[in-house]
Amino acid sequence: MKIGILGTGSVGRTIGTAFIQTGHEVMLGSRSVTNEKAIAWVEANGINAQHGNFEDAAQFAELIFACFNGVFVTEVLKQAGAENFNNKIVIDVTNPLDFSNGMPPSLLSQYSNTWSLGEEIQQQLPGAKVVKALNTVTANLMVNAQLVNNAHHHLFICGNDVAAKNAVRELLAHNFHWNPEYILDFGSIQSARLTEGIVPFWVGAMQVLGTPMFNYLIVK
Ligand SMILES: NC(=O)c1ccc[n+]([C@@H]2O[C@H](COP(=O)([O-])OP(=O)(O)OC[C@H]3O[C@@H](n4cnc5c(N)ncnc54)[C@H](OP(=O)(O)O)[C@@H]3O)[C@@H](O)[C@H]2O)c1
Repeated sequence: MKIGILGTGSVGRTIGTAFIQTGHEVMLGSRSVTNEKAIAWVEANGINAQHGNFEDAAQFAELIFACFNGVFVTEVLKQAGAENFNNKIVIDVTNPLDFSNGMPPSLLSQYSNTWSLGEEIQQQLPGAKVVKALNTVTANLMVNAQLVNNAHHHLFICGNDVAAKNAVRELLAHNFHWNPEYILDFGSIQSARLTEGIVPFWVGAMQVLGTPMFNYLIVK
């Protein structure tokens, strides 16, 4: 499959490498085609790895990951071109974090409580099927759920399109070792308010535990 990744940070590069290793074609997108991190990533990942600007990556892709700094959602999606997302699944990994007052971060006020980045992305890309997923775990765990508690821990997804959510569940199970029974569907994209809202708590827990390699396990 052709996978486009909007973002050249640690998340975008980690997800990109994982898909290369499972046999997919990946293009990283950024603001500039001379982005040094993207160039180095392509050199390290072989012939199935490419990079371009945000628009190139969105056009190239059959499936798109949103892995950019949430502050710049409008700029990134404008550069990528909304028409390039039509009928495509967009897996939204972004978080609306504000680190300006130190650690742990707070939520950006415009994407908290009564709105979220997931909803913002779905609103700006009406032709896309946005599925919020993976935003509540660290990058290395996103791509290999078995690194914590033998994959017995929960991932939270939400989105308006049930078929898209089922496809994402299958994709994550097949490529990243997530146990499908541990992927909890929280309903419509409005639930991104909930799954983004727990991320400042996650950062606080990381500080207490001294490692990002942990996750939530809900028992009843
Ligand atoms: N780090 C984690 O383990 C983790 C875990 C869960 C969720 N997340 C979320 O995943 C997303 C990616 O995180 P990250 O740490 O990999 O990267 P990041 O530093 O949050 O974002 C990097 C991307 O943001 C773009 N960007 C920065 N300034 C911009 C601007 N002014 N206009 C347009 N684009 C701009 C960069 O573009 P260029 O490529 O052009 O530089 C780059 O592609 C974030 O929303 C984060 O909250 C991270």
